[in-house]
Amino acid sequence: MNSVATKEYWSQRYKDESTGWDIGLPSTPIKEYIDQLSDKNLKILIPGAGNAYEAEYLFQQGFTNVFILDISEIPLKEFQQRNPKFPAENLLCDDFFKHNETYDLIIEQTFFCSFPPLPATRKQYAKHMSALLHANGKLVGLWFDFPLTGDLEKRPFGGSKDEYLSYFEPFFNIKTFQKAHNSISPRAGNELFGIFVKS
Ligand SMILES: C[S@@+](CC[C@H](N)C(=O)[O-])C[C@H]1O[C@@H](n2cnc3c(N)ncnc32)[C@H](O)[C@@H]1O
Repeated sequence: MNSVATKEYWSQRYKDESTGWDIGLPSTPIKEYIDQLSDKNLKILIPGAGNAYEAEYLFQQGFTNVFILDISEIPLKEFQQRNPKFPAENLLCDDFFKHNETYDLIIEQTFFCSFPPLPATRKQYAKHMSALLHANGKLVGLWFDFPLTGDLEKRPFGGSKDEYLSYFEPFFNIKTFQKAHNSISPRAGNELFGIFVKS
């Protein structure tokens, strides 16, 4: 999908309220990761952020340098309405694959599983994540752990730990990548929690 098609596809999903991925709150593994962070000045990006409950939580906890990025302006506008004090300049309407900035921490939450699961695109995601991080920056989040079906219309797209490692290991040191023990119940057993440090 090109950027225009991607933007239209996702904006239509928001207009149709066909947003089954939206859990309405920060997911527990990411919330618990955030809770043990002490440096509130970390420059943090959440790409494919949607309604970005993780960013809302970070902001409420006093993190001052949080950016959310989505290709559709619809969830960004809704986020701004819910969080009028969140800096508008930190809401980025852009294609992740074209975004150029650098961060200390990037949080993954149901973005990777949303785009067509071609190996070249997944490798490009890993490479681009690395490019968006400062030296020793971290990519932290959740990746679905169930097989791909081959149906390119059926999101979320899954994969396996070994497949994901083949994309990440060239660009990151793998600090942890394990079945999440604290997933929300509908996703229990189906998520890997990862902390990858830019190598
Ligand atoms: C499955 S939703 C997940 C949203 C959010 N992370 C959540 O968990 O509720 C995927 C999100 O990624 C956005 N997206 C898809 N492709 C993108 C791209 N290339 N660049 C930026 N955002 C993109 C979509 O607009 C959508 O908001």
